Amino acid sequence: MDVANTKKRKILVTQALPYANSSLHLGHILEAVQTDIWVRFNNLIGNECLFFCADDTHGTPVMLKAKELGVEPEQLIKDVKLDHIETYKLYDIDFTNFHTTHSDENKKYSEFIYNEAKNKDLITRKTIKQLFDEQESMFLSDRFVKGACPKCNEENQYGDGCSKCGATYDVSEIKNPISALSGTTPIHKDSEHIFFNLPKQINVLKDFLQKSDLQKPIVNKLSEWVNDDLQQWDISRDAPYFGFSIPGEIDKYFYVWLDAPIGYLAAIENWAASNDKKMEELWSKDSNYEIYHFIGKDIAYFHGLFWPALLDSANLKLPDGIYVHGFLTINGEKMSKSKGTGILAREFAEVCDPETLRYYFAAKLNDKVEDIDLNLEDYVTRINSDLVGKYCNIASRCSSFIKKNDNKLSDNINNELIESIKSKKPLVTSHYNSRNYSKAVRLIMEMADDINKYINDSTPWKKELNEAIDISSSALYAFRLVSIYLQPIIPNITKNAFEFLNSTENSFEDLDKMLKKPINNYVPLLNRLEPINLKKDEPMNDNNFIDIKQFADVDLRVAQIVEASLVEGADKLLKLNLNVGELGDRQVFAGIKKAYNPEDLTDKLVILVSNLEPRQMKFGLSEGMVLASSDDEGIYLISPDSGAKPGLRVK
Ligand code: 2FM
Ligand code: ZN
Repeated sequence: MDVANTKKRKILVTQALPYANSSLHLGHILEAVQTDIWVRFNNLIGNECLFFCADDTHGTPVMLKAKELGVEPEQLIKDVKLDHIETYKLYDIDFTNFHTTHSDENKKYSEFIYNEAKNKDLITRKTIKQLFDEQESMFLSDRFVKGACPKCNEENQYGDGCSKCGATYDVSEIKNPISALSGTTPIHKDSEHIFFNLPKQINVLKDFLQKSDLQKPIVNKLSEWVNDDLQQWDISRDAPYFGFSIPGEIDKYFYVWLDAPIGYLAAIENWAASNDKKMEELWSKDSNYEIYHFIGKDIAYFHGLFWPALLDSANLKLPDGIYVHGFLTINGEKMSKSKGTGILAREFAEVCDPETLRYYFAAKLNDKVEDIDLNLEDYVTRINSDLVGKYCNIASRCSSFIKKNDNKLSDNINNELIESIKSKKPLVTSHYNSRNYSKAVRLIMEMADDINKYINDSTPWKKELNEAIDISSSALYAFRLVSIYLQPIIPNITKNAFEFLNSTENSFEDLDKMLKKPINNYVPLLNRLEPINLKKDEPMNDNNFIDIKQFADVDLRVAQIVEASLVEGADKLLKLNLNVGELGDRQVFAGIKKAYNPEDLTDKLVILVSNLEPRQMKFGLSEGMVLASSDDEGIYLISPDSGAKPGLRVK
């Protein structure tokens, strides 16, 4: 047996599965960065650390979004998965596998765990009163209901939780409920539901709270729930529901929160199948892998109670730890779209190098459940002072001397400087391991300060070339060590730094390696950030000009509405059959139902974007888009003056 290997840990890590109903925002990225840093760090110290995630695809959030867009849920989750994968990539999130809960593996595991729980007498049935939308003839769960929060009375909250006070509750508790589907007041109607007997698992939970790695406030909160308030957990939802049907039942589906965490297992099995691994090796009572979940504080309930209780019922290994982080605020406020602080991850990546956000988050993250603030001014200052001014500055100021020596480093290195940085490895390692990245960052920046001070004090610019090369070489060796320490946080910038240094082995175990080959010419590793302004909907300014060619690319045509009709199952859409003259007839779905009666639209002239890529919707193909304007009060179609003929170009 390889002795060196026996000490290495084998670790499975997950982050919470993002809902497949929208693009990722910066809150998602905070969690992904926290998790990714920990995974990269573990691999860099020689552990085997695998990182799994998936899209959370079932339930009402996805159903509502698909309905709004007029597409099938399957199409929506396919598109969103691609979007999520690309966005995480922008931020260098390095998943071992990113899967989906709408998968064969997840169905298999959901049924398996349910059946095991049933065999252990942990499944019960009870008839409950449920809200029912008579107009849509459907039971309304969770997000299909809006009303006032039962705890703080805030209006316009979803049926499963309050965005103001953070309370989670059952949909039956919400005050003055309204159906989010039809806007009507729902009635109460009997429905038989299936429950997981959580109270029967109380000893499993108490044991879990004692043995696993959890933060103090989380243990306290979970213990409170375990000791006072354990309820049977409703795991079924009535049709129509986008999810897995419950075996042996008619028109009943697993509640999304049952199969969501099971998605962790599914993502791992999906990877195992194509990597010659067995699930027993990875996630089973006998496996050698430790299991850690990174999550936000709002879902501690699901991960700290339901999840271990479910795993135990199926005789699967319970997590070794759950690491909980707080929410992200922007400039001190909760993220909000209207204030321009509901920042999408893709948009932010267009404004700043995403690695700089990784750095900023790291500089603020610790092992607490506290909220983290992204202050945009502080962000710019921090990046410019730390990464550009301290870290990159070392490389840029030393490279010119080395260049004069054909890019060859000297062997006459200042050992004191190097050894002092190497000696910090145990401390850096311990901060990363305990998720105190802010402490790691502070320590590493102190090293960068030391190196810059060493250069300042040694004044290479006043010295003979040989001595200047010795000084610069020492500083660059030290720069390499700092780059190794920073690697989990800014993997891409450090990758470029290693390329500059011609350094090929860069794990935490390679601190002693020498740089033998000539280094490469220095290319700036990071540019200074300019002040950030993310406010939307501002008047067009000089920077927003398009050229005439861009405008000419849009083929705008006068079109006449031949017929407008309602679309069954769509809240917002009307179907328009258009006569576009020389372009023939077109069918377009327009989101104007709120503002127009179909009969009033016949013969009306509108403007059509005729060369927009056709879009397959649930209701049919939409071949273009009609122009309209809107505000809080209404939607206004744009029409040409009388006399315009169908098919005419608008230019
Ligand atoms: O809160 C959320 O965004 C959920 N989609 C998280 C699921 S985590 C896991 F249980 F799947
Ligand atoms: Zn509330």
